[in-house]
Amino acid sequence: MTADFPLTCSALEKTFRLGSEQLHILSGLDAAFPRTGLNTIQGASGSGKSTLLQILGGLERPDGGEVRWEGEAIYGWSRSRLAQWRNLTVGFVFQSYHLFPELSALENVEFPARLARQSDPEVGAHLLDQVGLGSRLHHRPTELSGGEQQRVAIARALRNNPALLLADEPTGNLDAATGREIVDLLLRLHAERGNCLVIVTHDNGIAALGERIYRLEQGILSLS
Ligand SMILES: Nc1ncnc2c1ncn2[C@@H]1O[C@H](COP(=O)(O)OP(=O)(O)OP(=O)(O)O)[C@@H](O)[C@H]1O
Ligand SMILES: [Mg+2]
Repeated sequence: MTADFPLTCSALEKTFRLGSEQLHILSGLDAAFPRTGLNTIQGASGSGKSTLLQILGGLERPDGGEVRWEGEAIYGWSRSRLAQWRNLTVGFVFQSYHLFPELSALENVEFPARLARQSDPEVGAHLLDQVGLGSRLHHRPTELSGGEQQRVAIARALRNNPALLLADEPTGNLDAATGREIVDLLLRLHAERGNCLVIVTHDNGIAALGERIYRLEQGILSLS
């Protein structure tokens, strides 16, 4: 089971409390994601897609249930083991890029490698070249367009060659043509690397590209 589905989650529960109000966001959610292939997730705004992605990527602890990687419950690990797993095994791409503003494109891309003490600017420069930014290595995020910033974010997410790539509305801040370019880039790099890619999207066209197309509704995930 874990050989083909390295990422699984079972009975996930997440409730946010705001004052006296309780928001049940995830209600016994089960899922298994295959080692390779494109998974897309759709759902209404506020249905919990970002929350789910953060939980799957080790960024947010669920209130109940388990996330397992290769059969091991990730929230049972020590903080340092979890942080190491996030850095080496998971790449994140966010709607709003989340680049470090004070770092250049190359320094942003090298950041996860530096954390792992494996920095090699030549590798970072090659990755930036692959995403079409070979001539922007020393630009800061404010000196780049939105589409270019997202390319840097993709290069950074891929820097440690993660087995799992999680993208939360990666085209949400981009015009349609640039968004399409970003998705094509993600899919091309994904095809070359053969990792597990999960894209949360509002875009029906992008969602339809998924080999597995999920819908998050009323706290559970189902295949469309
Ligand atoms: N830290 C938090 N504290 C309280 N409520 C939260 C918190 N994070 C998220 N929520 C609530 O949980 C719900 C799900 O949020 P989430 O961001 O996961 O939705 P989403 O499906 O990603 O929505 P969108 O499509 O708009 O990005 C929302 O109603 C949100 O207000
Ligand atoms: Mg969201």
